[in-house]
Amino acid sequence: MFKYYILIPSLTLLISIPIIFYLAPSILPQRQIPISLPDELDDLSLFHKAIAADATFLKKPSRKHPSNKFRLGSTTVRRPKIAFLFLTNSDLHFEPLWHKFFNASDPHLYNIYIHADPTVKITPPMGVFADRFIHAKRTQRSSPTLISATRRLLAHALLDDPDNAYFALISQHCIPLHSFNYFYNFLLDTQKLSRKMEFPSYIEILTESPSLLDRYNARGENVMEPEVSFDKFRVGSQFFVITRKHSLMVIKDSKLWRKFKKPCVKIQSCYPEEHYFPTLLSMEDPNGCTRHTLTRVNWTDSVGGHPHTYQPPEVSPELIYKLRESNSTYSYMFARKFSPDSLKSLMEMADSVIFKD
Ligand SMILES: *[C@@H]1O[C@H](CO)[C@@H](O)[C@H](O)[C@H]1NC(C)=O
Ligand SMILES: *[C@@H]1O[C@H](CO)[C@@H](O)[C@H](O)[C@H]1NC(C)=O
Ligand SMILES: *[C@@H]1O[C@H](CO)[C@@H](O)[C@H](O)[C@H]1NC(C)=O
Repeated sequence: MFKYYILIPSLTLLISIPIIFYLAPSILPQRQIPISLPDELDDLSLFHKAIAADATFLKKPSRKHPSNKFRLGSTTVRRPKIAFLFLTNSDLHFEPLWHKFFNASDPHLYNIYIHADPTVKITPPMGVFADRFIHAKRTQRSSPTLISATRRLLAHALLDDPDNAYFALISQHCIPLHSFNYFYNFLLDTQKLSRKMEFPSYIEILTESPSLLDRYNARGENVMEPEVSFDKFRVGSQFFVITRKHSLMVIKDSKLWRKFKKPCVKIQSCYPEEHYFPTLLSMEDPNGCTRHTLTRVNWTDSVGGHPHTYQPPEVSPELIYKLRESNSTYSYMFARKFSPDSLKSLMEMADSVIFKD
């Protein structure tokens, strides 16, 4: 028997691809690259694989690293890992600093994934970064492609290793403010692990911001309704550290993505990556999020939506200590943005200041 119910939707899809290609340039503002249907389908198939794999991981724990366990009293607990998701469209400027960060750690406690814009020529990174590139697509500021890239990183990391428990998004302008072990012990406190306590996601979720209404209407008026009413619309830093549970929530979402993937009509108010994640998690699991980011940023005197970029003369041990300070009960773990030529000053104080704890 022929499976017409499969054939017909596939045919419709095939016929609609050229139509969308033909129409896209006339509908979309010139400055934004559209997310094509084939790219969208490619991502969806990756997400489905990751979601299905996660369900089997639950039933049948992986034997990938059988030694990756530790004893707590009379029980043996698997040691969770942190997935570091590097989102970049240039060289990883602080690669030597990150090498130091990862070098001082147990290689069974982390995984690295890099999404690099394929249209940019990047010097292949070495050591722990070598061959850590995922299948990437073009990214562009002020467009939903940054959300897509992040979801792609999450899906790859979910699929790659069932032990990835936390997912930290990092850019090429980010630096670590503490050692790997400090960060690991902060996130994955063995006391909490042994008591099977719920771990939170560290993602900034703000309800107020002067330009929130403009940003809500960036895709056009009334476009977000009814899925995302204005009172549910949130803002927060794109740089988060979220749990496996929340990462799955993000790649399972299609309802909000359908809205957030729409191209902006007002480019100057278009920062979808600063809204999609906080809005989604605040709608689905507000109590599972700390509402604070672990990545410090300095918005004083910001120009054109760019934060202050620290230059070599500003880089000092005092700056590192100052950037760690936060209003929450824990310290900041990462900071941005640093100019690429800050590397030398940062390396000089890596052992004595940054990774001392
Ligand atoms: C990291 O460790 C490797 C091998 O142990 C070593 O060759 C490399 O120089 C180290 N890198 C840094 C930045 O310390
Ligand atoms: C933030 O940036 C401003 C310059 O834009 C600078 O004066 C200030 O010291 C910076 N704050 C911190 C905490 O680095
Ligand atoms: C802490 O809160 C105060 C008062 O709201 C604010 O001025 C300051 O910038 C905050 N500090 C940090 C590190 O966020």
